[in-house]
Amino acid sequence: MARSLLKDWTEEDYATVEHGILHAKHRLHETGIFSDENLCRIIDTHPEEDFSINTMGYDANQFEWREGDRNGVPAEKLLELVKNGHFWMNCRKMVKNHADVREAVNDIYNELEAKSPGFKAMERSANLLISSPDALVPYHIDIPVNMLWHIRGRKRVWVYPHFDFRFASQEVTELVCNGDLTEDVPYNSEWDKYALVFDPEPGDLLTWPQLGPHHVKNLDDLCVSLSTEHLNPRAIRRMHVHRANHFLRKTFGMTPTHVSPDGPLAHVKQTLTRVVGKIQNGGKARKKAYTYPITFKIDPNAPEGYVLLDEKPPEEIAPHLALDKAS
Ligand SMILES: [Fe+2]
Repeated sequence: MARSLLKDWTEEDYATVEHGILHAKHRLHETGIFSDENLCRIIDTHPEEDFSINTMGYDANQFEWREGDRNGVPAEKLLELVKNGHFWMNCRKMVKNHADVREAVNDIYNELEAKSPGFKAMERSANLLISSPDALVPYHIDIPVNMLWHIRGRKRVWVYPHFDFRFASQEVTELVCNGDLTEDVPYNSEWDKYALVFDPEPGDLLTWPQLGPHHVKNLDDLCVSLSTEHLNPRAIRRMHVHRANHFLRKTFGMTPTHVSPDGPLAHVKQTLTRVVGKIQNGGKARKKAYTYPITFKIDPNAPEGYVLLDEKPPEEIAPHLALDKAS
């Protein structure tokens, strides 16, 4: 039998995955995969196109997220810069690129499929997040179903009510699902009173239903987390329903209110976006999602560990800032 990387899960915990907010325990941090030595090996063997490094401001109310260029700096030096600076590194597609992580993610998802009623994890992927002691991640929604396995350091995570358009409007959700925005969405700190706030420690898992808004701030030490993502037919349909609503809104001036991923109408909308997508995107079902331009490069000799390349106004970098916060 495969090892169990889930610790002390109850039947109710298994049943909550994808349906509610869950704070549970895991053993990923005990596997040895996330030691400094192995992190350096991962970073230095990871494909360039699936690696990103970011810097940001210090206030969740100010969107100052920047995309950077690693500038050929080796992993050991990068890790030192992240420990002492203000960065967020993301190695995407870990399942595809690293056998040790692939095995661990498959053990987790196989166990969830065996024990969570109706649970199915297709298109399994994982992002390795390595971030500075005071880094933050702006308010956003993730299109796939997202599970945050915390491994090193401590962080604070604000999780806002899911499937509630007060916290990411229907129009904004549609733009994200359509690839017109990154997953960052307008934020208003007045919503914090409706959030659940968690301080995950190594060995803690947090997860919430698909498209649930959240933001993160590190509390101390280098933080390492694995963010796993998966899809299944229902999650894919939910994304298509939002894309179809975007199409109906934009093309016919309609105001769609139906957002359920279940029932015949959801299937019709999925077919509609697949057909329209292929016509609009040159045969591809989905257009390439918007990505931020590179506006800094790593420079170990610079006081902050990086130099800015371009002083663009924030709205030009992040189109969601131009949207009405109340929309
Ligand atoms: Fe996220």
